[in-house]
Amino acid sequence: MQIFNEHYLAGKRVLVTGASSGIGRQAAITLAACGARVCLSGRDAGRLQATLDLLPGAGHTLLPLDLNGDDGIADAIQADAKASGSFFAAFHAAGVSMVRQVKLCKSKQFDDVFASSVQSAMAISRAMSLRGVMDDGGALVLMSSVAGLRGQAGMSLYSAAKAAIDGLARSLAVEFAPRGIRVNSVSAGAVETPMHDSLLTTLNGESVEAYRSKHLLGFGSVNDVANAVAFLVGEGGRWITGTSLVVDGGYTVR
Ligand SMILES: NC(=O)c1ccc[n+]([C@@H]2O[C@H](COP(=O)([O-])OP(=O)(O)OC[C@H]3O[C@@H](n4cnc5c(N)ncnc54)[C@H](OP(=O)(O)O)[C@@H]3O)[C@@H](O)[C@H]2O)c1
Repeated sequence: MQIFNEHYLAGKRVLVTGASSGIGRQAAITLAACGARVCLSGRDAGRLQATLDLLPGAGHTLLPLDLNGDDGIADAIQADAKASGSFFAAFHAAGVSMVRQVKLCKSKQFDDVFASSVQSAMAISRAMSLRGVMDDGGALVLMSSVAGLRGQAGMSLYSAAKAAIDGLARSLAVEFAPRGIRVNSVSAGAVETPMHDSLLTTLNGESVEAYRSKHLLGFGSVNDVANAVAFLVGEGGRWITGTSLVVDGGYTVR
């Protein structure tokens, strides 16, 4: 359901990472329906094109990028801003999940989770700090998770990465405030996406029900998160910075 009208972000350019799937894809659609020109980033160019085909409005672009952490990421984003216009906002949704006991978490798993989620967030933030990339008064939203706020067996690495995202958002909020740029994270509970589907395949029916019932309002939809992102990016979030907006159907309430 579209909550905001097509004037809410009219004329603003927004970078969305993870735009080839799940939450990032829906955020791109929602932001475009709010009037934004969206720059879609992800690794899979075919699935980015599929998102592009779903976007209302005009002026959207593709920026296929592997965000697994090198300094070239910020350069690529800066080059895109020079070629196609500066960004009013960025929503960093890209990330991979990791469910495994700590004894099975080696440096490869650490690198995969932290590079796609935290190092990439750092690279995007650095890009936004470079001259001509982000408009003063804009907004940066980083995708986090209730896993950064609550413990769960098998989630230590993922939890650590999402807690790092929340910490990053707080300090960036202070650093970017002189330019009027707001920085927040969104801590989501379980949202029905391809990532969520693959997590459920590791659980039996009873465990799925137990997991669902921890969410007082049931599992969330990609729209639930996309609307929260649109709210934060636009005028609704004008006085909100340095916080994590919990969107979790009540998962963390008890
Ligand atoms: N679903 C949930 O229950 C849930 C809950 C809380 C938080 N989250 C977070 O929400 C975000 C989106 O999750 P989702 O459920 O929408 O997952 P998803 O459907 O699996 O989508 C993940 C996205 O991240 C991109 N990505 C992953 N690694 C990347 C890399 N190295 N470089 C560039 N892009 C990369 C993927 O792009 P390509 O496919 O093109 O590679 C894809 O677009 C993640 O940060 C996740 O941790 C999800």
